[in-house]
Amino acid sequence: MRLRGRKAFITGAAKGIGLSVARAFAAEGAAVALADISEEECKKQSLEIKETCNVEAIGIKCDVADTGSVRNAIAETSEVFDGLDTIACMAATLTERLDVVDLPEDEWNRTLNVNLTGSFLVCKHGIPLLRQGGGGSIILTASQMGQVAWPGSTAYCTTKGGILQLVKGIALDHKDENIRCNSISPGGIATDRLLARWGDMETAEKEWGPKHALGRLGQPDEIAAGAVFLASNESSFMTGTDLLLDGGYTAW
Ligand SMILES: NC(=O)c1ccc[n+]([C@@H]2O[C@H](COP(=O)([O-])OP(=O)(O)OC[C@H]3O[C@@H](n4cnc5c(N)ncnc54)[C@H](O)[C@@H]3O)[C@@H](O)[C@H]2O)c1
Repeated sequence: MRLRGRKAFITGAAKGIGLSVARAFAAEGAAVALADISEEECKKQSLEIKETCNVEAIGIKCDVADTGSVRNAIAETSEVFDGLDTIACMAATLTERLDVVDLPEDEWNRTLNVNLTGSFLVCKHGIPLLRQGGGGSIILTASQMGQVAWPGSTAYCTTKGGILQLVKGIALDHKDENIRCNSISPGGIATDRLLARWGDMETAEKEWGPKHALGRLGQPDEIAAGAVFLASNESSFMTGTDLLLDGGYTAW
């Protein structure tokens, strides 16, 4: 029970990596707020988590690109849990795959708003609560695509590179408040996100798996394990940096 007594707010928690993180945090004893634009799914998943892990779990509507929505969701979480000490930002939108010339400005702005500004907003409104409670851990989600790029994915890659800098800034701004901030960079992970690009998981595994040194896609649980480490005291000497869990994608 490495997170017993912790109170966590997790975005993008309706499915995929965010849901795995919520389940892993709860299995380690944390109270979890599952926040996502898919409120219904979060509520359903939170009930399951509550039953399985015997912890407090709530599902909450939160659009990370909307200041009011973020503020309300965090305030509600803190009220129900009586405080907050852990933030995990996993939400990201799907972006049309187009080169820079063809990418509509609106699509660029929407991608930055959700993936990058969304993490900023959650931190902006969450950090005062962490501070009040005496500190905590923040985990943002970057990507191997924060370090290398992929054709037609400039907006996405830009947001992920931005996350790597955002964690450094937050870590330094709040270093004297017992608040640590790090990111996780997954490689290709078998979630619905890949279906938009590859059509089906079999094709994703066949086409993209071999681009990883380990020769396969990762599983959401393999990223959640890293998030548990970053949330727990095991990572007590780690802040302002990135945990690269990319199956060796960037090692070539
Ligand atoms: N799957 C991968 O291969 C991979 C690789 C590297 C990084 N990542 C990153 O990991 C994170 C999770 O990825 P995933 O594969 O689980 O994605 P996913 O698409 O399966 O799930 C993303 C979740 O974010 C939610 N979301 C989208 N817009 C939102 C908004 N405005 N406000 C709140 N929630 C919103 C969606 O509803 C969904 O539940 C993302 O940040 C992604 O960029 C994923």
